[in-house]
Amino acid sequence: MTFGDAQSLFEAIQDSAVIIDRAGRILEWNQGASALFGYSAREVTGRSLNLVYQQNHPFPKIIQEMLSQQQKKWTADTPFVRKNGTTGICRTTASLTENPKQGGKPLALILQQNITEDRARETALEKTSEKISDELHECLELLGINCSLLSKSVATSAQLEKQLRESELRFHVVAENATDMIARHAPDGTFLYASPSCKTLLDYDSDELNGNSIYRLVHHEDAGRLRKVFSRRRDAPNHHILTFRIRRKDGEYRWFESNIRIIRDDATRIVHEFQAASRDVTSRIMDKKARLRGQQLAHVFRLSTMEEMASGMAHEISQPLAAVVNYTQGCVRYLQKKEGHDPAQLTEIMNKAVAQAERAGEVIHRLKNFFCKGQLVRTACKINSLIRETVTLIRSDLTTSRTRVEFDLGKEISQVSADRIQLQQVILNLIQNSIDAMKETSPRQRKIRIQTEDRHAEKIEITVTDSGPGFSKDMVHKVFKPFYTTKAHGRGMGLAICRSIIEAHGGEFIIHPNTQNNSWIRFTLPKHDKPGG
Ligand SMILES: Nc1ncnc2c1ncn2[C@@H]1O[C@H](COP(=O)(O)OP(=O)(O)OP(=O)(O)O)[C@@H](O)[C@H]1O
Ligand SMILES: [Mg+2]
Repeated sequence: MTFGDAQSLFEAIQDSAVIIDRAGRILEWNQGASALFGYSAREVTGRSLNLVYQQNHPFPKIIQEMLSQQQKKWTADTPFVRKNGTTGICRTTASLTENPKQGGKPLALILQQNITEDRARETALEKTSEKISDELHECLELLGINCSLLSKSVATSAQLEKQLRESELRFHVVAENATDMIARHAPDGTFLYASPSCKTLLDYDSDELNGNSIYRLVHHEDAGRLRKVFSRRRDAPNHHILTFRIRRKDGEYRWFESNIRIIRDDATRIVHEFQAASRDVTSRIMDKKARLRGQQLAHVFRLSTMEEMASGMAHEISQPLAAVVNYTQGCVRYLQKKEGHDPAQLTEIMNKAVAQAERAGEVIHRLKNFFCKGQLVRTACKINSLIRETVTLIRSDLTTSRTRVEFDLGKEISQVSADRIQLQQVILNLIQNSIDAMKETSPRQRKIRIQTEDRHAEKIEITVTDSGPGFSKDMVHKVFKPFYTTKAHGRGMGLAICRSIIEAHGGEFIIHPNTQNNSWIRFTLPKHDKPGG
């Protein structure tokens, strides 16, 4: 392996990787670091690494201690600040390396992994002590694998040329500390090396993968795309990013994004190896799929409500149009008079006609927006006002059905990140269902209660209850099935659409079955300033 290979790996991993000198000054800064902190390599080279932390770390002392073997590695989870001022938490790991460019002087390789989301998740889930001990166990296992591989690589490197040795050592230091799975493959896909993180990501030990082909684990629908990259022509680019599914040891397929580099012989350009830095992106892909599903269903919903809405909209458009006709006819009559024309009066009437024509235009515009197959347009929304606003839209149905709405809206609720129109659809659907469900309830007891609560770090809860018969345990599973309805004219789509919309926002939609007339529907939405929000 050449220094160039280690260098390309340094660039390929998606974790932030930085090389600092003994004084803590930045010498090299990869693309992962630029992505995490927002600075380009040019902006930070020569500056202290503490630039990105909220507190100062004594890097010269840390390096000194690693050099004197008091410490092999230094790790800390600390707050960081991006160039744009936003903050997060990262896991920083420092290990020693040497830079052939600098005449083999000891340097430190710093890997930084953004763990902000993990941290938030941990707090939310209030991990049990059992889980912590499991993780500790895993870490110890990984540490063991790291140490044995590191010592192996040191032993091998002693027999090689100086530069090769430094390069390989550096490759392993990067590979073995990265959370990405780093792998080297022969051109036919055989694993030549798999970094220890394959245990966490795929549940395989490195030894179980080495010597086996990657194609045994790749999903058959994705294998073709991988083969295409692995059989590149001589003139093809050397770098590819590919998303594909790999089977874990327990049989589950996970989505991985792989940053693949093709290593060629400098002289002959013949491919002799592939290096891949792969990261599990399953949750990202699943979120995207849920979002798409939500968009498609919302579109179906919009089209099928078109008929119902058309008459309402026609009324809204015909009103201003009738006004335009009236004003214009008035002007014509006025102009037909032979004398006494007052331009100011004419202008006033024409301006009124213009205003009404604009109003009609606006209604049509709104209609167009509503029926277009739109993307989620998420903005910061004040959920309490949005709920009150939506209830006014359905006010006439509430009055006709003699249904009261009781608001129990929490004070100082954080803003949520949501598509206003889609969220209004969810609330309208739920209110309409409640009105329908309370047809047999005595009018004095017809009541819908809408509650908002801000009691979690990342999400807001919205609960809708009514005094109707509620949902039986049996129904809870059925009602989400498309076309399930107990109504003569129902489409059986309302709740399926509501759930899809909420899931597309990264929230949860739950129906609590009725035991003693107390069933409720609760959905959550991410707060605006939180990850995923
Ligand atoms: N608040 C509620 N209380 C009791 N049952 C309900 C309530 N909301 C919905 N249901 C039951 O769930 C079924 C499915 O509701 P959903 O909103 O998905 O479809 P729908 O209201 O029948 O038709 P549409 O697609 O026109 O909304 C309803 O037919 C009804 O039986
Ligand atoms: Mg419904």
